[in-house]
Formats: sequence, C-alpha cells, structure tokens
Amino acid sequence: MKILSGIQPSGQLHIGNYFGMMQTMIAHMESDELYVFIVDLHALTSVRERDRLAAGTLEAAADFLALGLDPDKCIFWVQSDVPEVCELTWVLSTIAPMGLIERCTSYKDKVVKGISATHGLFSYPVLMAADILLYQAEQVPVGKDQKQHLEVARDLAIKFNNEYGDTFVVPEPAINESTAIVPGLDGQKMSKSYGNTLPIFLEGKELKKRVMAIATDATPVEEPKNPDTCSLYKIMKLFATPARMAEIHNLYVGGGAAYGYLKLELLDLLNDTFGAARRKKAELLGDPAMLRAILEKGRDKARAKAVVTLDLVRDRVGLKY
Ligand code: ADP
Ligand code: TRP
Repeated sequence: MKILSGIQPSGQLHIGNYFGMMQTMIAHMESDELYVFIVDLHALTSVRERDRLAAGTLEAAADFLALGLDPDKCIFWVQSDVPEVCELTWVLSTIAPMGLIERCTSYKDKVVKGISATHGLFSYPVLMAADILLYQAEQVPVGKDQKQHLEVARDLAIKFNNEYGDTFVVPEPAINESTAIVPGLDGQKMSKSYGNTLPIFLEGKELKKRVMAIATDATPVEEPKNPDTCSLYKIMKLFATPARMAEIHNLYVGGGAAYGYLKLELLDLLNDTFGAARRKKAELLGDPAMLRAILEKGRDKARAKAVVTLDLVRDRVGLKY
C-alpha cells in the first residue's frame, strides 16, 4: 500500500502531531511504500520569517528521524524540493470549483486566529491535493482536522479522472479514532496555533510547567470524577499501560484521583517515552550537513515518482503538443 503524509515545519512538534500522524507513519515503515515529507510551501502561508522557516524545516527533519523514521525504508523529503507539485497545483486549480474550496473551514479558522488572509492560505487545500495525487497515494494518515482537506483531494481526483480519463488514484484518509483529536492543556484540540501544547522535545522545568497547567476541575480528591470529560485522563491514556489506566479509571469513578499526583506521573511517562528521541534529536541537529544529505536523497527518489505523474497529467490536459 502507498501511504503518504506531511507535516508543516511551523512550530514545536507536540503529542497531538505524534499520535495523530507521526506514530502511524513510522509504524508503516516496514510493510508499506511510505512517503513522508515536510510541507514548507504550506508553512509559507503562516511563517513569514525566513530564518524561522529554514531552521524549522531542518528541525522537522530531525524530529522525524529522532522518533525512529528510517530514511532508507521510506521516501523522506522537503515539499519545495520537488517543484512539480506547483505545476500540478495549478492544473488542479483550474478544475477546482470555488464552492468546494470556499466550504473548507480551516481558512476561516486560521484567519480568525490572526493568520493573514492571502490567496495562498485560501488555496492551501489545492496544494495539499497536489501533494497527495502527485505520488498516487492510496492512504493518508492524518488527524481529524485534516479530514475535509482529504475530501477535497478525493473530489479533485474524481473530477479530473472523469473529465480527462483515469489518471489519479483516489486517496483514502486513515484516521485513528482513539487519537483523532488529542486534547490540549485547555481541553480544546491541541494545536501549535492555540498555544496549548505538550511539545515532545520540551524538557525539565518548562515541560513540568505545561503538564501542571493541564486544566482540571475543582472536585476534591475523594469525590468521584468523570474521566470522559477530563483532558488529563485522556492524555494519560495515550501513555499509561492498560493495567495502570484501569486503576486510574477506578480512582476517577470511585473517588481518590489526585490531579497533582497524576500530573507528576504523566510527566514521568512523557520523559520515559521521549527521552531517547530528545537525545537523538540533539545529536542530529549537530550535523546539519548529514540532515541535508538525507533530504537530498529523498528529493531524488520523490522527484523520480513525481515526474511520471506530471508527464501523464500534461499529456491528459493538452500541455504536450
Ligand atoms: P497544528 O494544528 O499543531 O498546527 P499540524 O496542522 O501541523 O498541527 O498537523 C500535523 C499533523 O498532526 C496532521 O496530520 C494533524 O491532523 C495532526 N494533528 C495536529 N493536532 C492534532 C491533535 N490535537 N490530535 C490529533 N492529531 C493532530
Ligand atoms: N495540511 C496538513 C496539516 O496542516 C499538512 C499537509 C500538507 C499534508 N500536505 C499534506 C498532510 C499531504 C497529508 C498529506 O497538517
């Protein structure tokens, strides 16, 4: 199976990104044809500082590698290194109905959060469709927030195939229901743009401060509590063993769950889970030339695939004369 997904190099990677997408991607490495990329062209819609975007791209590469992605077992590259994606974006733009793109909620959500209302931000879903269709991906692991963008990619693939003849694979989203929406410190969806994250690579006092800031209610320790509405419980469930979670569940429903104590337990779990990756990331960032070499190799592999699809598309629409 061809599996593809990307991540924006626009901020510190958090546990929502990890459980929503990265962990699934890394798990596919052994058995599938895996495409993993860093979507710097998408990040340009929100990051206007040159150095932050450039450094963020290398850092995102280090994140993936530190968490266990093996570049020899997948195609791992930076989106802008394969310029064919921009040409396909244009071709898809010419068949993308305005209404389809206008219905995408992420544009309005991002503008409300202060991101500039540009044409690039508006047509973000078309670039994302090009990302997916260019590599003929069959399955796309994402968090629930990307479901609508996957619908756009599917609609454009179907429309193109109907108008010009069979060309694109129609991709399926792969959304893991148990981790589809990881809650943030405030109970909303965890997101870089809400400032409510638990970053994977944050350590020490700063991480402790974030964990302690997870919003909990004022129910006294001995009183019963509702685990289903508690972000702390939902986050712990991602890390604790099923046996420990059963104990914690009993403490919630029977009384005796002390939030402060559980937060310290969560802090230990975070440090245990990501300790090795943090050390590995520091090592990788110490050798940017090696990171660039890995991404260049990935670029060549990705580009070889991209030109085949684009050549077919050019022929289908009449750009070959
Ligand atoms: P953010 O919202 O923090 O900017 P991105 O848009 O870069 O995150 O998302 C990268 C990947 O991580 C996407 O597949 C997205 O669906 C997933 N993701 C982001 N936040 C969460 C979350 N809170 N729960 C589950 N998956 C998430
Ligand atoms: N839009 C996705 C996000 O914000 C990132 C992305 C860009 C992507 N292109 C993609 C994800 C292709 C999956 C497939 O998270």
